[in-house]
Formats: sequence, C-alpha cells, structure tokens
Amino acid sequence: MKHLVLIGFMASGKSTLASLLSASLKLPIFSSDTWIENQSGISIAEIFFLYGESEFREWERKAFRQAMSLEESHIIDCGGGFVVQNDVRELGRVYYLQVELEEIERRLRIKEESSKRPLANQIKSLYEIREKIYQAQADRIIRSETRLEEIIEDWRRS
Ligand code: S3P
Repeated sequence: MKHLVLIGFMASGKSTLASLLSASLKLPIFSSDTWIENQSGISIAEIFFLYGESEFREWERKAFRQAMSLEESHIIDCGGGFVVQNDVRELGRVYYLQVELEEIERRLRIKEESSKRPLANQIKSLYEIREKIYQAQADRIIRSETRLEEIIEDWRRS
C-alpha cells in the first residue's frame, strides 16, 4: 500500500501538516509516536527514561512493521529519528519537511515542546547527521513557504 510519508526533525511541524493533509485528502493518520505510546501504555519520555533510547528504537521498528501492514493509504507521521533505522521509502512517497536549525532551536526553547522530547538537548549534533538522511530518503522537500495545494497536487500526480 502506498502511503504519504512525512519525515523531518523534531518540532518541524510534521504533526500539524499531517492533520491538514488528512483533512484535505480524507486519509487517516498513522503517527509512529502515537502508536508507540498507545501500544506501550506510557509516554515517549517515559520509555526513554525507564528503558533507554535503544528500547525506543526497537519500538520504532515495530511501528514501521505496523505501518507496512496497513491496507488503506495513510498519512504516516514519522518521529524525527524513525528514518535512522527504517527505510521509509518502502512505505510510499516521502516528503521531508525541512526547517532551519535556528528555527528548530527557537521552537524547542518553549518548555512544553522540549520536555516531551528526550533528545531535545542534542539537537545540533543530531541535526547534522539527520539532515543528510532526510535528504537521501525524500522524494520531495517541503519548506514553510510550500503551499498545501502543491503537496496535494504532487501526491495526486504520484
Ligand atoms: C525523536 C523525535 C520525536 C520522538 C522521540 C525521538 C528523535 O518525535 O520520536 O522523542 O529522535 O528525533 P518528533 O519528531 O515528533 O518530535
């Protein structure tokens, strides 16, 4: 099944964009983070705190397998590190929501945004590593100035 896959750094706005696309395209959303929280019964921050990052990455591999098994087309909202251990291109058409590091830093200065993200204190080094991975996996790069209609049109043509 072909999905519309959103990748990008934490706080890049993937979940907001997923909601907008879901409403316009009438496609359900599969969020890796939400699926993991529902399945594990605890928050992402608690998984990191209690069991460590490797356990969380294991959950992300399970979430990937779950997404692969979905029969209906979905908007797949991937957590920021999801692309590191999963080849998201297998899921469908991949859109990378690219936001400058400075803007990510600005957004993560807001406490509610950083407190739910255990890796928010490592953004600089993660950004450097991840940026190349996001670029390599993307079919299309989206930026804040990209209009929703452009994405919708691209998806419909794909
Ligand atoms: C992470 C990003 C988070 C979440 C977890 C780890 C990362 O998702 O999956 O805190 O490694 O970048 P968002 O991209 O939705 O913040």
